Amino acid sequence: MSKLIDGKVISAAVKAKVADGVAELKKQGISVGLAVIIVGDDPASKVYVANKKKACEALGIVSEEYALPENTTEEELLALVDRLNNAKHINGILCQLPLPKHLNEKVIIDSILPEKDVDAFHPANVGKIMIGDYDFVPCTPAGVMEMLKYEGIDPEGKTCVVIGRSNIVGKPMGMLLLHKNGTVTICHSRTKNLKEICLTADILVAAVGRADFVTADMVKEGAVVIDVGMNRKDGKLCGDVDFEAVKEKASAITPVPGGVGPMTIAMLMQNTLTAAKRQNNING
Ligand code: GUN
Repeated sequence: MSKLIDGKVISAAVKAKVADGVAELKKQGISVGLAVIIVGDDPASKVYVANKKKACEALGIVSEEYALPENTTEEELLALVDRLNNAKHINGILCQLPLPKHLNEKVIIDSILPEKDVDAFHPANVGKIMIGDYDFVPCTPAGVMEMLKYEGIDPEGKTCVVIGRSNIVGKPMGMLLLHKNGTVTICHSRTKNLKEICLTADILVAAVGRADFVTADMVKEGAVVIDVGMNRKDGKLCGDVDFEAVKEKASAITPVPGGVGPMTIAMLMQNTLTAAKRQNNING
């Protein structure tokens, strides 16, 4: 039976620190502002955006939501981003993905000022993560690292296996583990001997997007298992890991819900505070 890594507890600790930081800036007459753009009616995106707004309100961060219709043109969206890039009271800009098919995500992400790109999706921020000199880290991998730190799990010298190579999770996750001196393998849909590679993992991160993808026979006894998945099975939210079976083998495991999910929003709040500090030339 493994230890449950509780994302609700750890995210609350992160958010409490952010709230302190926001209050400190307020004393200096500086407010912290986040603009969230959502285009279209994707139900999951709507829930994520509502949760981000709620978190801002709880921490004293001013949030502005821009809910645009499905038929918004690229020119209209670029004009909004330009306006927010130049708005003094907005420190962070987030454009919820996925965008409707007719909009080019790359063009939109590239148009956000890197110093306001609290998602860390802009190529300038991605490049900084490669080098290991960064202000913003994509929120989900940053949340995973925070969980490991909180639990005293040091990746140094450990075999770390990440399943999934997305720009948002898999690739930056691998980089962050590498920066902490883990020995990192990134697996994906074309990986041939996936089970054998997973069995070598001291730290296994699943970011696949398929329910029950990671089964107990893929997990080494005593491994730390981090489940980034957010799937639905029989109408219920579940991750990528067969939790009930894997928890008997792992030394520590994150649940879904209540694991990585709450961390993602907490790290977004942290990135927004960092953006406000940097834009006001405040260190720390
Ligand atoms: N869609 C799914 N995850 C994310 C995220 O972290 N940021 C944004 N902007 N869109 C997402």
